[in-house]
Amino acid sequence: MNDEAPRPGPELCSEAEVEQLVRRFYARMRADALLGPIFESHVHDWEPHITQLVDFWSAMLRGTRRFAGAPMPKHLALPGLEWPLFERWLGLFTQTTAELGNPAMQQLADASAQRVATAIWGRYSNQRFPLFG
Ligand code: HEM
Repeated sequence: MNDEAPRPGPELCSEAEVEQLVRRFYARMRADALLGPIFESHVHDWEPHITQLVDFWSAMLRGTRRFAGAPMPKHLALPGLEWPLFERWLGLFTQTTAELGNPAMQQLADASAQRVATAIWGRYSNQRFPLFG
C-alpha cells in the first residue's frame, strides 16, 4: 500500500489521459451557465487554448516542460471574478477527474487545481482590495 501523495511524472498518466481530462472539462465548462459565457467572450480560437491547457496540465501531472503561458496575468485581467466562480470551476474539474479511472492522477490533479485556484484568487482579491500599500 502506498499512502504517499502522488508526484508528477510520466508514470502517473499518459498524454492521452491529460488531453481527455482537458477536453471533457472544457466541454462541461462551455455548457455551464456562469462559466461558459466568460470563456466564450475571451477565447475566440479554441484549439490553441486547448493545446495551452493540455501543456499546462501535462506539466502539472507529468512534469513535462512544454507549457510557456502566463496564467496569473491573464486571470488578473478578467473582470468580475468571485470566489464562488472558482468553487464552481473546481466542482466541474473534480467531477471530470473522478470519471477518468486513474485515482492517482485524480488526487494530484484535484490538489493542484485547488492550490492554483487559491493562489489566483488570493492575488485577484488583493489586487481589487489591497491589504498592503
Ligand atoms: C473562476 C475560475 C476561472 C475562470 C473564469 C478562468 C477563465 C480563464 C480564461 C477566460 C482564460 C483565457 C484567458 C486569455 O487567453 O486571455 C483562462 C486561461 C487559463 N486558465 Fe483559467 N480560469 C479560471 C480558473 C483557473 C484555474 C483554477 C486554473 C488552474 C488550475 C486555470 C488555468 C488556466 C490556464 C493554464 C490558462 C492559459 C493561460 C495562458 O494562456 O497563458 N484557470 N482562464
